Amino acid sequence: MGLLPASRELVFPGTTSKAPLLLRGVPEYHKPSPEELVDLAIESHIARVNKHSLAGGDESFFVADLGQVTRQHRRWTQSLPGVRPYYDPTLLKLLADLGTGFDCASIEEIRAVLNQGVDPARILFANPCKSPAALVYARQAGVIRTTFDNLDELDNIKAHMPEAQLLLRIYANDDGALICLGEKFGAHLDTVQPLLSRAWELELDVIGVSFHVGTGATNPTSFAKAINHARLVFTQAQRLGFTPTILDIGGGFVDSHFEPTASLLRETIRAEFPAGVTVIAEPGRFYARSAYTLACRVISRRRQLGSAAAAGVPDMLYQNDGVYGNFMNVIMEKEVMGPSVVEGTRGKDISGGKCEKDSEDLSSRGISGAGEQRYSIWGPTCDSIDCVVRETTLEREVAVGDWLKYRNMGAYTSTTATQFNGFSSSHDILYVNSESLPEY
Ligand SMILES: Cc1ncc(COP(=O)(O)O)c(C=O)c1O
Repeated sequence: MGLLPASRELVFPGTTSKAPLLLRGVPEYHKPSPEELVDLAIESHIARVNKHSLAGGDESFFVADLGQVTRQHRRWTQSLPGVRPYYDPTLLKLLADLGTGFDCASIEEIRAVLNQGVDPARILFANPCKSPAALVYARQAGVIRTTFDNLDELDNIKAHMPEAQLLLRIYANDDGALICLGEKFGAHLDTVQPLLSRAWELELDVIGVSFHVGTGATNPTSFAKAINHARLVFTQAQRLGFTPTILDIGGGFVDSHFEPTASLLRETIRAEFPAGVTVIAEPGRFYARSAYTLACRVISRRRQLGSAAAAGVPDMLYQNDGVYGNFMNVIMEKEVMGPSVVEGTRGKDISGGKCEKDSEDLSSRGISGAGEQRYSIWGPTCDSIDCVVRETTLEREVAVGDWLKYRNMGAYTSTTATQFNGFSSSHDILYVNSESLPEY
């Protein structure tokens, strides 16, 4: 599942030492918070861009805090010990080291994981509708664990990967999920018997059951219901002669509902599988979303005049990234963006004091610097759908050349970006690690 930003990568030269903080002239070392570290990376990148380009650079960029991924992994293992996450094949090195498996949707994703030297046995080809070419590639690469949910896929698998270890993907649905995957995938309970019988006839091996309640799920009971259904399917499979051992509880986990969801999951798994079962999961958003911050540059501004000004219509900011780029979620998930201003790259005080605005710099650009301002924010294309946020309040007046930052941009952003109107869909990523900073 390619949901993470992945393209050209830069490494912020302060991922593991206090050197960059001293270089910035901070008199006494103060361990920055994760947000401060990300802000420092943003500011140093902007300073670099400004130095090397007369016009100040034209591309938005990401800062990824690997420490945040580590913290999410810690949360996962504390709440769901024994449930091995199969992760999206980006952030590969870190997650490979953390011991996760990898849930891949395509040849390219499998290739990316294998290129990191990951054992093919750690990969689940979790796309229930694969092309013959994808099956041939996966088999040659040694990836033989995959999902199915229809009769034709069984024939496909028999023809191209007869030794496959199969998980039957069953229908599951959280009505409140941001995107319901059940519309596209998942065998309904009344179709399970013919599917299992056909797999048996074809002498294929069904080793378990998988489901996905939908991405951005908020109702823990949807997981519980899906596990109840999986239990029924295990029994049906056992009656036919299969020996299912794996329960794949999919993705859908969100930060805000994680612990209650995990608690109900543990309880339901214990109740439905008292003899034990190997449980795996495919969390995407949970690990990625909060680790990434996106910085965008304001490239143009329309100050309202005439009747619009009299009616209080907010001024309009145009930035170098929009819904055809990293903000597709504004349309797909109706996400309401809440950016904030990146303050001056000169001398931000991270030793506990308030962020100093460079008032000289602001006033030379005609910005009073004082007071909140309402804006609508638009992407760079010529399409009026390309609106990032209809109305938001920023800390101060913003002008062309200023940068805005958007937190929580790690899931379903650059991987869904297009090149509409000729705008680039590849972006720099700076990696920092707030978990490996010294305390002193
Ligand atoms: C098969 C599969 N696994 C995992 C995921 C990741 O889901 P999430 O980001 O909601 O955890 C997806 C998302 O579409 C998916 O289709």
